[in-house]
Amino acid sequence: MDEEYDVIVLGTGLTECILSGLLSVEGKKVLHMDRNDYYGGDSASLNLTQLFRKFRDNKEAPAELGRDRDYAVDLVPKFIIANGELTKILVHTDVTRYLEFKQIAGSFVFRDGKISKVPSTEMEAVKSPLMGLFEKRRAKKFFEFLQGWKDEDPTTHQGLDLDKDSMKAVYEKFGLEPGTQDFIGHAMALYLDDDYITKPARPTYDRIILYTTSMARYGKSPYIYPLYGLGELPQSFARLSAIYGGTYMLDKPIQKIVTDASGKFVGVTSNGETVKAKQVIGDPSYFLKSDDGKIRVIEEGKVVRAICILKHPIPETDNSDSCQIIIPQNQVGRQHDIYIAMVSATHNVCAKDVYIAIVSTVVETSVPEKEILPGLNLLGPIHEKFVSITDLYTPTSSGEADNIFITRSYDATSHFETVVDDVQDVWKRVVGTPLVLKKREVEVQE
Ligand SMILES: *[C@@H]1O[C@H](CO)[C@@H](O)[C@H](O)[C@H]1NC(C)=O
Repeated sequence: MDEEYDVIVLGTGLTECILSGLLSVEGKKVLHMDRNDYYGGDSASLNLTQLFRKFRDNKEAPAELGRDRDYAVDLVPKFIIANGELTKILVHTDVTRYLEFKQIAGSFVFRDGKISKVPSTEMEAVKSPLMGLFEKRRAKKFFEFLQGWKDEDPTTHQGLDLDKDSMKAVYEKFGLEPGTQDFIGHAMALYLDDDYITKPARPTYDRIILYTTSMARYGKSPYIYPLYGLGELPQSFARLSAIYGGTYMLDKPIQKIVTDASGKFVGVTSNGETVKAKQVIGDPSYFLKSDDGKIRVIEEGKVVRAICILKHPIPETDNSDSCQIIIPQNQVGRQHDIYIAMVSATHNVCAKDVYIAIVSTVVETSVPEKEILPGLNLLGPIHEKFVSITDLYTPTSSGEADNIFITRSYDATSHFETVVDDVQDVWKRVVGTPLVLKKREVEVQE
């Protein structure tokens, strides 16, 4: 029998939904299934009932939290960088027509025990309480250098070569203090650890420029966020796929990934019925147990996340209705940063006067909940807290040999850039050619 579909996609997380949307637009016949009765997989947004079902053994949500339908609580805390790669995909596919965006109101960093705004220009640097007088002058010179850099004009290079010299060499050239390096590398370049410092400076330069141009776009922070929560993103790509003939089935338990004698993909068995296709794409959770004995995913770490319901904005953030706070690893003696992402009723994700803050980090010890304490301590009184520890999985092979293409788990970064890296990577493996995107503008509500 011929295959009914070109591609079966398992799991409706954002990565899988972007891929099935793009593949459908490309003319591929796509069947998309999810074992859950809701969209989004690990990147879903849950209502109160779903949240308490998941974290509190079906206990009912307390009435004082308000109406179920006012809530869309993200399981994975990430924001969209205004000028980033996800934005490009959203506008390229015109998926923006299903979404409305709002700015995130502030971007903060923790230094020497205090929360401060992240300066993003030389103008802001000279006003920032993050630095002393002389350090401000050095930081101003550093930002001027970055903003003035032109590849083709050596007079802007000040003797540095971004492709050869390490970021350490660049910091040293401007004599920046370790604490300043912390906020530049972690709160602007958004690195999770310090590995970048000894590597060539170019990617860090690119990331700082991405941060500053995104910041310049809407003014308050480099981030935007979809009304009704991040779960709107996969659903919007699902709608795109459906327009181009993609078929979506939720609440479908997957019993078996069927392979032939040589280990190549044949089809997927759900409710006793096997559907065939040329290729399968899926999130790692569908490949943890192997039906043919081949190990296709491995764990490469864990992330701890605490979803906290607050009845007040986070202290010391100018009463921001939403914000990101980064606690650089060095500031609290760790190897990975701690992130706080907060949204509120302004984004239609919870009841009025409620704030949802998610504190997360990469697990380094056997007591992950203790590791996020420096973040929890910044929140003030916490009304409800839901803690989860998630395994991060990565595929063991490219999938080209067996037509089984596996995506990666959502990492601990504060944005979607690595999700788009994964989309591009899987696309290239599945289609054989790189994903090419055009650029248009995205509108943001005031
Ligand atoms: C909340 O989620 C539950 C479970 O998926 C669903 O049955 C219910 O309709 C949702 N509530 C609202 C108000 O959407």
